[in-house]
Amino acid sequence: MKRKKTGSKRDCYRQRFSVSYTYPVHFTHGLLDPKNPLLADTLRSGRDMERCRVLVYVDDGLVRANPAVPGAIVSYLAGGNGSCELVQYPEVVPGGERAKNGWNVVQNIMSTLGNRHLCRHSFVIGVGGGSMLDMVGFAASIVHRGVRLIRVPTTVLSQGDGGVGVKNGMDEHGMKNFVGTFAPPFAVLNDFDFLETLESKYWIGGLSESFKVAIIKDTSFFDWLCRNASRLKKRQGKLIEEAVRRTAELHLDHIRTSGDPFEFGTARPLDFGHWAAHKLEVLSNYTLGHGQAVAIGIALDSCYACGCGLITPAERNRILSAMTRLGLPTWDAVLERTAKDGGLEVLKGLEDFREHLGGVLTVTLPKRLGRKIEVHEMDAAVIDASVAFLRDRKCNGP
Ligand SMILES: NC(=O)c1ccc[n+]([C@@H]2O[C@H](COP(=O)([O-])OP(=O)(O)OC[C@H]3O[C@@H](n4cnc5c(N)ncnc54)[C@H](O)[C@@H]3O)[C@@H](O)[C@H]2O)c1
Ligand SMILES: [Zn+2]
Repeated sequence: MKRKKTGSKRDCYRQRFSVSYTYPVHFTHGLLDPKNPLLADTLRSGRDMERCRVLVYVDDGLVRANPAVPGAIVSYLAGGNGSCELVQYPEVVPGGERAKNGWNVVQNIMSTLGNRHLCRHSFVIGVGGGSMLDMVGFAASIVHRGVRLIRVPTTVLSQGDGGVGVKNGMDEHGMKNFVGTFAPPFAVLNDFDFLETLESKYWIGGLSESFKVAIIKDTSFFDWLCRNASRLKKRQGKLIEEAVRRTAELHLDHIRTSGDPFEFGTARPLDFGHWAAHKLEVLSNYTLGHGQAVAIGIALDSCYACGCGLITPAERNRILSAMTRLGLPTWDAVLERTAKDGGLEVLKGLEDFREHLGGVLTVTLPKRLGRKIEVHEMDAAVIDASVAFLRDRKCNGP
């Protein structure tokens, strides 16, 4: 260790180390079929004791749609798969954004981890949508400073985006994800079969994150989304698998290669469209789902980019009409809500966003399709004009 002269009487020891993370993201069908070894192999890969302890949480919305899931988990693990000890019957926890608000669910999970004596080498498995995975992951990341987490995402959005990344969190203090941690999972197991029971709102909504990454990172994926928007809406063939895989690949590529997986800097391309989206979710009292709010945020920032000459009107129109064909909204009345000072309430989302990410305001915008640019201020007049454009488009039809 180098000891540096600092000029003062105190010495400074510069502490420096790096930690490398690795976790697999698998795609499969029939994860809970006893003949599918994936979950068992995953548990075995981390086993350094004779028998590992496992606690499983399942999303209540998933269980309503597919009541056989908790029993299938018990049978799978009882069949000797993974030689692990399921410490209690899988616990059903509230799913959806409303459950992400406040500490109740997180506290219950922390208590169970303590009461069931899970150690840092035990496993917590979360099976569900992005909201409950955020909460289960958050609780697991703070108990004992981190218990191993296996995510089994069951929505389009969580399989392609939220569930494959390194963040957890919950809503507090009137803000989305106000509390949370950066904590990479032990593994992610994406089973496409779970998507079959998903309501249309979440099926379509999850694809807004596909548009997000395609518009700023991958023109051929964007072209593919435009070509297949109507078929994706009708759930034709295996198109959803391709969309989810490509979205997850682009998301993972960014986390792996950006040089900033824990977001110490200010650039945040994976948050394209999100400054407005997070505010719209709160303003709508969460009646707008995350996916729908992100679609409106993308629409707004695409119009804004067009207003600044970053994309052409033809490119803006392609984005808006493909999202409309897919069934994603590009407008909601909350966009036009005004604050006491007469300005749009959604504009307050810029300051929330800056504060949440830290440092100077940094908003990602498309620069032509497939490329991006970071800007550090936004012109309120151009935002107003973009909101008006989207309202007129909604009223007059695309
Ligand atoms: N951690 C991250 O990096 C990250 C990234 C993106 C989004 N997110 C978060 O993810 C959340 C949105 O996640 P989401 O879109 O998955 O929605 P969601 O988790 O809110 O789930 C939507 C609804 O579907 C139900 N559900 C889940 N799986 C089901 C299934 N297979 N069949 C039927 N119903 C099912 C849920 O109970 C819920 O009612 C937001 O809170 C967002 O902030 C987190
Ligand atoms: Zn998102």
